[in-house]
Amino acid sequence: MTLPYRIGFGEDAHRLAAGRPLILGGVPVPHAERGAVAHSDGDAVLHAVADALLSGLSLGDIGAHYPDTAAENAGLDSRLILTRCLDLVRERGYVPTNVALVVTLDRPKLGPLRAEIARSVADLLGLAAPEVGVSFKTSEGLAPDHVQVRVTVLLARGEG
Ligand code: C5P
Ligand code: MG
Repeated sequence: MTLPYRIGFGEDAHRLAAGRPLILGGVPVPHAERGAVAHSDGDAVLHAVADALLSGLSLGDIGAHYPDTAAENAGLDSRLILTRCLDLVRERGYVPTNVALVVTLDRPKLGPLRAEIARSVADLLGLAAPEVGVSFKTSEGLAPDHVQVRVTVLLARGEG
């Protein structure tokens, strides 16, 4: 059955280590003591958004499309991954209408970057910034060495 709307959900987590940049939604986090350990650039927001897009249309996940064991995917710009996943969604006649994402990170505080991250993710998806909701949570010390992101997206048919 061809549904007018489909919900997608994505998640990503990365371990944090010194000497790595921390990039969230395409935005470098200034003064981050640690960044994501990853095969790619470790942007957990863009990875989770890309997985949300794919999941909404049952297209698998980014690991299936971009295996982290493949040499050509090393250091791959996550913006490129997201753009390609968006193309797959559009090819099937759907567009994202709004996104809600939650970043769980103990430090640093990300509140000052909320608008910039929303704008960056919106630009990549062809949305307006108010269509990207950005929330931050600490893990309350339960996962101090990780960054984790959860994303929902609503896909609508026939508006592309
Ligand atoms: O996790 P907790 O509920 O204690 O977080 C309190 C608030 O701190 C969040 O609602 C969010 O506004 C902010 N926060 C933040 N940056 C983080 C984690 C939380 O700005 N890395
Ligand atoms: Mg990732």
